Order: sequence, then C-alpha cells, then structure tokens
Amino acid sequence: MSESSGAVPLKSSPVPRLAGEITVPGDKSMSHRALILGGLAIGETTVSGLLEGDDVLHTAAAMRAFGARIERGGDGIWRIRGCGVGGLREPANVIEMGNSGTAVRLLMGLAATMDFTTFFAGDASLSARPMGRVLTPLSHMGAHFVSRSGNRLPLAVIGAETPQPVEYRLPVASAQVKSAILLAALNTPGITAVIEDRPTRDHTENMLRLFGLDETVLRVETQGSLRRISLTGPAELHGAHVDVPGDPSSAAFAVVAALLAPEGEVLVRNVALNPLRTGLLQTLSEMGGDIEKCNRRQAGGEEIADLRIRPSALHGVEVPPERAPSMIDEYPILAIAAAAAKGRTRVSGAGELRVKESDRIAAMARGLEACGVAIEECEDGFIIEGCGAASAIPGGGSVTTHMDHRIAMSFLVLGMVAARPVGIDSGAMIATSYPGFVADMNRLGARIAPPGGRA
Ligand code: S3P
Repeated sequence: MSESSGAVPLKSSPVPRLAGEITVPGDKSMSHRALILGGLAIGETTVSGLLEGDDVLHTAAAMRAFGARIERGGDGIWRIRGCGVGGLREPANVIEMGNSGTAVRLLMGLAATMDFTTFFAGDASLSARPMGRVLTPLSHMGAHFVSRSGNRLPLAVIGAETPQPVEYRLPVASAQVKSAILLAALNTPGITAVIEDRPTRDHTENMLRLFGLDETVLRVETQGSLRRISLTGPAELHGAHVDVPGDPSSAAFAVVAALLAPEGEVLVRNVALNPLRTGLLQTLSEMGGDIEKCNRRQAGGEEIADLRIRPSALHGVEVPPERAPSMIDEYPILAIAAAAAKGRTRVSGAGELRVKESDRIAAMARGLEACGVAIEECEDGFIIEGCGAASAIPGGGSVTTHMDHRIAMSFLVLGMVAARPVGIDSGAMIATSYPGFVADMNRLGARIAPPGGRA
C-alpha cells in the first residue's frame, strides 16, 4: 500500500495441512443493496448477516447522510427506517466512500434523480477509477456532474429536476452501471430500461422484488444471453427483511487454499450460489477441483450451500471470455490456482480487471513473477504456465498489493501453499470486504502474521 500510510505488512508461510470449518462474512453486493434499498423504503427494514466491512459501513454512513435511520442492534441485526424514495434529503457534507466502487456508483444513480446536489469523495484507489460509465447514462436521465479530470472523484452530482427515462444498452458488462440506472429509475416517471448483452449479477433486481416491486413495475425479459430489465417509475419500496448469505467472492480464498493444501479438508458454510456468481466454482471443477456442494437451500431470495473442499491436483484450462461477469472478482485467486496447476491456463475477455481496485492483471503478473511463476500479461487477460503442484511454486516474493484487498488475500493464500513464504506490503485493505480473513485462515491452519511475528 505504498500510496498511503497505515500499511500493515504481512507474511504467509507454508503449512502442511488446512482443515476445519469457517463461515465467511455476508455478501458484499447484497449488503450494499440491503442498506440502500432499506434507506429508500417506507417503513422498517431488518438485515441479518450484513457484511460489517469498511466498504459496507461507508454505504451505511452515506444512507444516513441522505436521511435514513440506520442502527445495529446488540443482536447483530441492522434496523433501518427508510425515508421513502421521494423523502431523501440533500446530504450536508461531502460523502466519503473510502475504497468502494460499487457503493459510489450505486449511490450516484440514486442521487442522479434527486432534486439536490451530492458530493462524493474516495481514497486514492477509488479516486483513480473511471466514473464515466455511470455518468453517461445518468446524464441522459437529466443529471449533471462536476468532476476531476477523466471523470474521476471527487465528484458532484447535480440531480435532475425533471428526470427522464432512458433505454440504455450497457457498453460494458457491469452490474454496477445497471444498478445505478435502476436506482435512478425509481424516481423517474415512465419506463427506464437497461439492456445487457451478457447477464451480470442480478441482486438489485432480486432485492427490488423483495422490497415490493411486482411484475407491473419491474420486468426482466430474456432472449438468449440478452436481458432487458425495465422499471416503471416513480416507484415506492416497502421495508423488508433481508437475510444476507455468505459472500462467494470471499469464500473463494478458502476454497482455493483448501484445494492447494497438501492435506486436510475444509468446510465453508453458508455460501451464496447465485448462478451469476459461480463462474469460479465452475472453472475450478473443470480444473479437477474436488468441491462438494452440501445442504443446498434458499436464503435472502438466493440459493446457498455449504462447500466441502478436499486437496486436488489441478490442471490448466481455457476460461471462456463469456464467463467473465460471473467470476469477475475471482480472477486474482484463480491465477493462484492456475500457478499450481499442471499445464497452461488462459484467461481472456476480462479487460475490466484493469479498472478494479487496482489494475489486477498487472498486479497479479508482477506478484506472480516475484514468486517465480511464469505469466504472460495480455490486454484482456493472462496466460499462466502452471508449476505442476503448489509445492513446486517457488514463492519467496514480496508483493505490492496497490491498496487492493483481493490481491492481498490472493498472495496470502499463495504463501500458505508455495515452497517458501510470501510477503505483502499491506493487508490493511482486507478490512474492506473480509475483516476476519487472517483469523479465519489461521484457524484453518495457516500461518499469517506480521513479518518477524508469530501467527
Ligand atoms: C459489483 C459488481 C462488479 C464487481 C464488484 C461488485 C456489484 O463490478 O466487480 O465487486 O455489487 O454490483 P462491475 O459491475 O463493474 O463489473
């Protein structure tokens, strides 16, 4: 984390065995949406299983700034008293969004059709990320924006006085952009429609239904891989109970660690299995990973299961480009699995990785090179020559994480299974999505600690 102070260097050392059970924290995408929709709804919303990571806490603070009452009960249940879509008030101050691209983009959508001005700011990583992808459709709906060069934060959203509905075909497969438009549509008279060529995670659509929108207001039509989501506004939401299941993107780290460990067996409980989020599990199974889905059930309007993972000899695969939206946050940890596999793994169609919390293609390439793995960087992906087994990965590198939580966790997993320890410059950002990551991994048998310290 060379860009800011407060770095927390960590070292992960190889271990002979990973075994036990963990429950990963609540899904980040669903947690943001539960707070936002709860803050917009009329009446009380209760949320259990909310991810209490920094990104989501920024969303809670932002919704309070718009006027919602949000409290965490001693029982771990979050209670929200929303303002109604038309009842939001102008935030008195700049809203600080920290590291969270999802939260700021969704909230820009919300603010775009409110007749007031909202200011957003973020940390160094978020301030470098492109916002044009949401500014374009929201401008068509009547909002105006003042931003730093390159459409970057800090940024002011001057909400539309008379919001206009749009029909917008997403130029990039992005659930954030889709969701920003749907949130803007709630306060827009008429039919707003979003068309996606490749389906992206549909938590916004699912949760809008949970908050009371029926088929006369929210429609999803599919034609092959094309989806058209339309919302007739203005629409009111009604308070609901949301039970947030475990985040598959957080579970991914324990899953890959358990596959690559020399011995043991790991159970990851309560993992959301929304079909638009399971690309990594599919890819790992194709690579020969032994992952059993047990106790399949429903929670929070989504399918969930417990995952039982056993050490497996993996082989390289070609990951189809059309799978990218369903595993977009999992490519860093897939790269670790690929490094341990026998043969070559090729990823393409994942150019979006270059504009995540860091340029994840470059960050993974530099980190893997530092650990002795051969990786070829492409514009929209990478090719990794696997070492044949995790223990054949030299490791021993010092990795720069670029303030990116998923780069940090991926290389800590590599350190658990490679021949020599792996160091990262900072694990501070892990708190944005998985505050208990180090404790969970160490409970399974990992040895992650500050350099020179004891796990
Ligand atoms: C998210 C969508 C994805 C993902 C992000 C969370 C969401 O981004 O990378 O971590 O909750 O909508 P894009 O929609 O920009 O691909």
